[in-house]
Amino acid sequence: MTLNELSRHTAEQFTKTYGRPPRWIAAAPGRVNVIGEHTDYNDGFVLPMAIDRYTVIAAAPSNNGATKIQLRSTLGDGAISLDLTQPLKPAAKGAWSNYPVGVIAGFLARGAKPGGFDALIHSTVPLGGGLSSSAALEVSTATLLEAITGLKLDPVDKALLCQKAEHDYAGMPCGIMDQFISVMGKKDHLLLLDCRSRKPELVPMTDPTKALLIINTNVKHELTGGEYAKRRAQCEQAARILGVTSLRDATADMLVRARGRMDEVVFRRARHVISEIERTPHAAEGVRASNWPTVGQLMYASHSSLRDDYEVSCPELDAVVDIAQAIGLKGGVIGCRMTGGGFGGCAVALVAADSVAAISDRIASEYERRTKIKPTLFVSRPAAGATLLQA
Ligand code: GLA
Repeated sequence: MTLNELSRHTAEQFTKTYGRPPRWIAAAPGRVNVIGEHTDYNDGFVLPMAIDRYTVIAAAPSNNGATKIQLRSTLGDGAISLDLTQPLKPAAKGAWSNYPVGVIAGFLARGAKPGGFDALIHSTVPLGGGLSSSAALEVSTATLLEAITGLKLDPVDKALLCQKAEHDYAGMPCGIMDQFISVMGKKDHLLLLDCRSRKPELVPMTDPTKALLIINTNVKHELTGGEYAKRRAQCEQAARILGVTSLRDATADMLVRARGRMDEVVFRRARHVISEIERTPHAAEGVRASNWPTVGQLMYASHSSLRDDYEVSCPELDAVVDIAQAIGLKGGVIGCRMTGGGFGGCAVALVAADSVAAISDRIASEYERRTKIKPTLFVSRPAAGATLLQA
């Protein structure tokens, strides 16, 4: 579905649900990270792109007064009612409403006055699939609130407001990658983001002979929340031992010299981060120079490092990468790795565009044979970031 079709569909659903058409419609994309994993909260580099899967949110002023907000999703799990005369607070952990409510709280904290409204959310970003469905929900809500309140945020500020919503309301101590790319994605470009300076650099990705194939393992191991926070703490510990503000300032040599002063696990966590921070700008250079074999090798190296040193992969993700690697350059696979936080979700493969169908078939059948799980595969071009579709 194109974004315009998706917008129309969401408007129709809104009208069915609330008995009148929406006034505002906003959308924000999910993302796939090509390389630079678990580096964002270490002040490192990331290289994501927005995908053409979106969360769309349609809204209209409330008929029930200036202080009532109603949020619904097309997944149909009941309405969330907010009363703006009462302080907002997070619902139970795992509730989808925490993301939009956290964003609304962020706008209120800046003195914005949304007034009452009814909203309906519809998404084509697979939920919990490691493609940042949560950032898409936060950023689409923020884009909607900019329209409703007239408070237009600077893009960096907007991404940070959404990240804070995820920290404070969803209890997930995420980095800044997902919200940044969902706000700042550009059609036909990857985004090389320096998470320290927060300076984004666009990297054109227009070669029609190459495609990024996204492979959803359709598994989600429920370790993610706690394991993610643990990794962050281990990185901070390594930085402390190395005497640096963040692992961005550490080198492989420094780490080797400090090995004796560090727990083995902490050593390996830091080794992943330091090597991944180095790989990421190289991969961006490779994309710029159309040096595809180098990009592919860096993707495989990233996966091994995430699997062995950072320990955030899982057997299903490893199976996908293994199958892709076995197909190899001859079969059109240039590189493959897990993408996102890990413990399930998606892998991303850089492939020859004319072999997408054959590669998809082979990965799907071999993956299902090995794991007894049906994967979902799709190709996405780099898409644009959040937009207001109707105001
Ligand atoms: C999740 C987080 C991001 C980032 C990735 C790992 O997607 O939300 O901030 O840390 O994991 O690269």
